[in-house]
Amino acid sequence: MLHSIDSEILFLQQEDVIKAGLLDMKHVLATVEKTYELMGKGLIKNPPKVRTRIPDDEDWQSFFNSMPCYIGGDVNIAGIKWAAESKKNAHTPGIPYGIDITILSDPETVLPFCILDGTLITAMRTSAVGGLLAKYTAPSHTETAALVGAGVIGQTMIMAVCEAIPTLKTIYLCDLDLPKAEAVAAEYQSKYDVEIIPTSDSKAAALKSQLIVTETTARKPFVDQSWLTPGCGLVSMASNEVELDVVRAADVICIDYWKQMITYNGKAVAQLYEMGELTQDGVSELGDLVLGNKSGRTSDDQFVFATSMGIGALDIMVGYELYKKASEMGIGTKVKLWDKPLWE
Ligand SMILES: NC(=O)c1ccc[n+]([C@@H]2O[C@H](COP(=O)([O-])OP(=O)(O)OC[C@H]3O[C@@H](n4cnc5c(N)ncnc54)[C@H](O)[C@@H]3O)[C@@H](O)[C@H]2O)c1
Repeated sequence: MLHSIDSEILFLQQEDVIKAGLLDMKHVLATVEKTYELMGKGLIKNPPKVRTRIPDDEDWQSFFNSMPCYIGGDVNIAGIKWAAESKKNAHTPGIPYGIDITILSDPETVLPFCILDGTLITAMRTSAVGGLLAKYTAPSHTETAALVGAGVIGQTMIMAVCEAIPTLKTIYLCDLDLPKAEAVAAEYQSKYDVEIIPTSDSKAAALKSQLIVTETTARKPFVDQSWLTPGCGLVSMASNEVELDVVRAADVICIDYWKQMITYNGKAVAQLYEMGELTQDGVSELGDLVLGNKSGRTSDDQFVFATSMGIGALDIMVGYELYKKASEMGIGTKVKLWDKPLWE
């Protein structure tokens, strides 16, 4: 199919990506790890995302991010994720906070060959990155974790940490909205051999945990040093969650992608870079961690901090896996850009 000049596009709506196996967290974790391996080897072109915030950068109500990439090596596809979030959606039943579309293109003919709902891909791949970061961040034999934020990413984070940290016995699922945390905990309790305890007291949960993962829509930092216990690991998946002193206190800092991270002043790492307190040498990027070129945690008494912003290459890699599976299974809807292009 690739390199054909046929303009056919396979459209995969959310129900199709589920049928094609997207909810298999083990597989998504492996795909995410492979993405960072290719990234670490320099085989992925992934320019920092371009953001359009509405009505303005300071007081945005919604935003659209453009996240293009080219993946080389044995994959050889291009693509883009068009990612959006809306504060209004957070309070509107029936619509997710974040909504995304993923487009896969042939790098030679430049024809798009698959368009997928990217909303669930985002949730699965984001939490898989959280799970991967947790592996380099959590102390050995981690049995307790506090997951702060029981929204969409919070749900998939339960799947990711259970897969990535097999020693886990207890998860405190924290949210300002306690009934929400209770409902999610009840839903996931039967799926994993881990006790899931809902709570609205995130700090108390963090103080009882060896691993803390935050995935909230907080607009101001709420995690300060008083949340940390000796030797704990903290993974922050969103912006504006941690005070600068938390990052300053870290013995090891793991991030997904330095070049992009420093473009975003909502991230504590970017602020410390701007202030001249942190350089690329002071962090371990996921590509280097996966390849073993740099280390995450090296002893159980370190405080390790990790954070991510997400790269389009993850969505394209996961989307391509789904495209291949859906094609094999004969699912999805075929559409065309044209029968015959008017001008060529
Ligand atoms: N790093 C990445 O690649 C990446 C990708 C996608 C989304 N995100 C980020 O993840 C975050 C969560 O997204 P979502 O789709 O799950 O949103 P969501 O609206 O579904 O859930 C967010 C939850 O956080 C809770 N919350 C907000 N402030 C809190 C606080 N101070 N303490 C405890 N709970 C709090 C809310 O009550 C809500 O239940 C967003 O900030 C989003 O931008 C990151």
